[in-house]
Amino acid sequence: MTRQQQLGPNLTFYDLHPPAADMLAEVRQSLGAPQPSLHPKFFYDETGSALFDRITRTPEYYPTRTEAALLSDYAEEIRARLAGPHTIAEPGAGSCEKIRLLLDAWQPQHYMPLEISRECLLDASRRLADDFPQLHITAVCADYCQAMTLPDTLVRPGRVVFFPGSTIGNFEPQDRTAFLQGLHRLAGPGGALLIGADLHKDSHRLNAAYNDEQGHTAAFNLNALQHLNRELDCGFNTDGMRHLAFYNPARERIEMHLECLCDQHIRLGETALTLQAGTRIHTENSYKFTVEGFSAELARAGFTPLGCWTDPDQLFSLHLAKT
Ligand code: AVJ
Repeated sequence: MTRQQQLGPNLTFYDLHPPAADMLAEVRQSLGAPQPSLHPKFFYDETGSALFDRITRTPEYYPTRTEAALLSDYAEEIRARLAGPHTIAEPGAGSCEKIRLLLDAWQPQHYMPLEISRECLLDASRRLADDFPQLHITAVCADYCQAMTLPDTLVRPGRVVFFPGSTIGNFEPQDRTAFLQGLHRLAGPGGALLIGADLHKDSHRLNAAYNDEQGHTAAFNLNALQHLNRELDCGFNTDGMRHLAFYNPARERIEMHLECLCDQHIRLGETALTLQAGTRIHTENSYKFTVEGFSAELARAGFTPLGCWTDPDQLFSLHLAKT
């Protein structure tokens, strides 16, 4: 069922995006639950990906720029600990900006971004293919949770899996090991994982990062509903919803919610659903880690830690481990 297209001399595109029917069933289930929720992947349509880029440039959102500094400062040092990183896979590659920080230092032959937003992926991989004509790019439009069930033709041994941004923080503690095991499989024998993990810090700083003054995080959160409106014609009144984000110290995570300010009468295909005023839709968890705790999680998933880099303020960590 794989749709494959050659988009240029060094760019191949695979479309593994789930059909809309799956989306409707999934949304019906999660919004209809006693505690309504939406999977964070619904943030990332074309608008959402653009809003996320804006978040990363706000003064409050420290993770992206801190990690980018670690990547460019330590690219050589990281490469020296690997046996020639020839092929790199990046689940959830977004705008494919971060990989650029490694390409000059690493000179890999092959790069495989996986991204759920088709427009964003096509755009980003075309630009990358133009800028790096020596690099072979296999762009895969897929939910990165599918990374472990990719067609065999896309699995190559000895690859470096790059999973930056602390996206791992979106997973529940009990799901993290299984997901990391999936990345282990994607990396294959002789492979490695380079992964970013956001660190615990004072809650004011955390809360500010998810409640930026310019309101980009609020717009990003609300866009999940606009995305559902566009894709499934749900009829959410987004003016009647409020963005909420706060640190939950007991669970060591930022939580994002959307609160209904009025009754929301929505359509989900053939069925109707009312979310009453006051209802909160849980849209994201962003877990925070310690260096030791995260290294232990990598080991539990079968990795052997090779190194860890942090900034002087201990805001963010970059971990390297082999399969
Ligand atoms: C892309 C999941 C790492 O959790 O910080 C940013 C997403 N949500 N602001 C994060 C996000 C709100 C981000 N991750």
